[in-house]
Amino acid sequence: MLVLVLHPPKAGVTQRLALEILSGAAGTGAQAELVTTDKKPNLSAYDLAFIGSGVYALHADPSIRSIVEKADWSGGRKAAFFCTYSHAGKKAVGNLSKTVEKKGGVVLGTLSIRTKGILTYLGRGELTESDLVRAHAFGEKMTNTASGRWVKRVNEKERIRGYKQ
Ligand SMILES: Cc1cc2nc3c(=O)[nH]c(=O)nc-3n(C[C@H](O)[C@H](O)[C@H](O)COP(=O)(O)O)c2cc1C
Repeated sequence: MLVLVLHPPKAGVTQRLALEILSGAAGTGAQAELVTTDKKPNLSAYDLAFIGSGVYALHADPSIRSIVEKADWSGGRKAAFFCTYSHAGKKAVGNLSKTVEKKGGVVLGTLSIRTKGILTYLGRGELTESDLVRAHAFGEKMTNTASGRWVKRVNEKERIRGYKQ
């Protein structure tokens, strides 16, 4: 299982998210690579592509849009999108997802994280610990889904019993 985590070279906060996704994906035993868009990776070489960007003027970075539009998604190639944004960002990943689906690909999931802090609206927001935990879990879950692995959820009764042991 070969997994790509892709983001624009200038990514700041989004790169932090990408590193957690990479770590979550690699934790499943998959081979996971972090690549920036300027390296122009061939998406068809990967079993799953995590593709992420900050949101700028309501859209993902142009380098991300260009790679997504040009890639061959036919035959159900798999993608998962992530973004960081300050006030209105979810549409950006929605548009990327539509492009993939129109071209015959499958979007396994999306993760949109709103940044926090007083500099958020200046494009210098921060992530919380729980954002990073979510990103790690997203990386793990999407990779497990792509490889057809299903992780049984522990119910509350089992969880408490497990805790006492
Ligand atoms: C020039 C510029 C335009 C932005 N436009 C939007 C926007 O339209 N919607 C939004 O929610 N956030 C917007 N933001 C906030 C960024 O999406 C957010 O700060 C993101 O975390 C940046 O990611 P990065 O640090 O990886 O570049 C903008 C930020 C900048 C600098």
